Amino acid sequence: MAGHRTLTIIKPDAFNTGKAGNILALLEAKGFTLIAARVMQLTQEQAGEFYAVHKGRPFYGELVEFMTSGYCMPMVLEKAEAVLALREAIGATDPAEAAAGTVRKLYAESKGRNAIHASDSDENAARESTFFFAETDLIR
Ligand code: CMP
Repeated sequence: MAGHRTLTIIKPDAFNTGKAGNILALLEAKGFTLIAARVMQLTQEQAGEFYAVHKGRPFYGELVEFMTSGYCMPMVLEKAEAVLALREAIGATDPAEAAAGTVRKLYAESKGRNAIHASDSDENAARESTFFFAETDLIR
């Protein structure tokens, strides 16, 4: 999926307040195509593994607690230069610093409760997609 697919997660704060539809509509309007999606509640083990790269950071415990606190919606999205394009579309980690019109500016509450995750490299997009989806879950 290098170059044209990436992994996103609508996080519990946004999913549980009914923002998933608006966020997907915004991303589709920006040219992303939905390739796979599921709704699930992460276990502590899954969230810990997904965010293992942040283990040891001061916010790690809070991050795992938040990501397991309700339902989330992992999705694979397709677009040219998908990783970069999606990170631009979601905005800065801290919604106070996110550009106008980005997902986090519109829907995030705080740096911790920031509505959406997006892969930060093609390598991580592939790894994170495999974390949630089998090859047969992806369309085309
Ligand atoms: P995400 O893109 O999912 O990747 C790591 C997450 O850690 C990040 O979004 C934030 O939601 C979360 N986080 C919580 N506190 C911090 C912080 N102080 N600095 C960076 N990330 C944080």
